[in-house]
Amino acid sequence: MEKSAKKSKESIRLAILISGNGSNMQNIVEYCQKRQQQNPFFRIKPIIVLSDQPRAFGLERAQKLGIKALYLNPGKFRTKLEGSAEENYVKTLKKERVHYVVLAGFMRVLKNHFLRSFTGKIINIHPSLLPFFTGLDTYKKALDSNIKQVGASLHLVSQKIDEGCILLQKSLAIEGKNVVELQQSTHKIEHQLFRQWLDLLDKGIFD
Ligand code: GRF
Repeated sequence: MEKSAKKSKESIRLAILISGNGSNMQNIVEYCQKRQQQNPFFRIKPIIVLSDQPRAFGLERAQKLGIKALYLNPGKFRTKLEGSAEENYVKTLKKERVHYVVLAGFMRVLKNHFLRSFTGKIINIHPSLLPFFTGLDTYKKALDSNIKQVGASLHLVSQKIDEGCILLQKSLAIEGKNVVELQQSTHKIEHQLFRQWLDLLDKGIFD
């Protein structure tokens, strides 16, 4: 793994993986740019955006933000990254000397080789208060279950889907919202969680 940038003034180089819209990615890049203008010693540097979908809107967003953005062929599997495709993702990230990999709406499961290449340094955003409602369709699951509070979680990626150590969470009240309204509100708190995480990372809290 790339030498850790811990407890120093060294930059922390970030890669962001997406599959679609890319609002979380945009939020991360814009926040880092803003913090860097305020404080030239702000350490977090988004370096590259990778997408497993050639037409992901997030790729356009990234290009407009002036960050290197690539589509990388995800290989023959529909829901996971394995074999030579996985190798290509890891190689690309290593070449960019990336310290942290952020999954921001990246809709594929990462396997052993990828996980071992960035142990403890892969972060995922999930639209529920984990451990509740892992996997897909979280808004529908939440509405069907009649609970009152939902939310979002930022967690480390581990072998088991959506089960890695939870770093940050934020809740919100359902209060009669439908799926679309719930999704919009959840996106807002996902963005807040990422901004909070970036500031903590800059301060060395997670090193
Ligand atoms: C987010 O809601 C995230 O929790 C989920 O996928 C969505 C991605 O949204 N994993 P965006 O592409 O960042 O707008």
